[in-house]
Amino acid sequence: MKKLQLTDAETVLFTRISRKINFFARMNMGLLEEILKRIEYYQFDKGEKVCRQGEPGDSFYVVAEGRLGVRVKTGLIFSRKVAELIPGDCFGEMALLTRAPRTATVACEEESKLFILKVDHFEEAVKQNPAFAEEIKKLADARKSALNK
Ligand code: CMP
Repeated sequence: MKKLQLTDAETVLFTRISRKINFFARMNMGLLEEILKRIEYYQFDKGEKVCRQGEPGDSFYVVAEGRLGVRVKTGLIFSRKVAELIPGDCFGEMALLTRAPRTATVACEEESKLFILKVDHFEEAVKQNPAFAEEIKKLADARKSALNK
């Protein structure tokens, strides 16, 4: 994992991506600007795990580049792939909303770049913007149902 500088180009990229994500699209510009001030940008290698099932979560992620796999354990050794995440997708919301451990392991299937929002700033965004809160909770509920199937 390598921290990258958030240049103007990435700021534009985040704004563009966030407009395509349902819940960010409903955010007002003021809040989006607040988030932009707090967002960090990281590069992950192919094979690198971004978060691990069962561990506590402290960040929310938006995929800028690359492809990641979401896997849940089916036993001590084996796991099942439940989803693939591509640019414009986000993850890591479930542990932050419920304060429960990560529900899945998310690993890079190719070199990937992610925008990262730390828990305090994520919670601030949820508190400040009911539309964001509503959409992110909907997403977490849908993913929870998918995991329980
Ligand atoms: P969290 O539990 O914090 O950490 C693992 C993340 O994987 C989880 O939040 C979701 O963002 C994501 N995730 C879990 N299940 C699915 C799913 N079925 N489809 C897509 N993403 C998922």
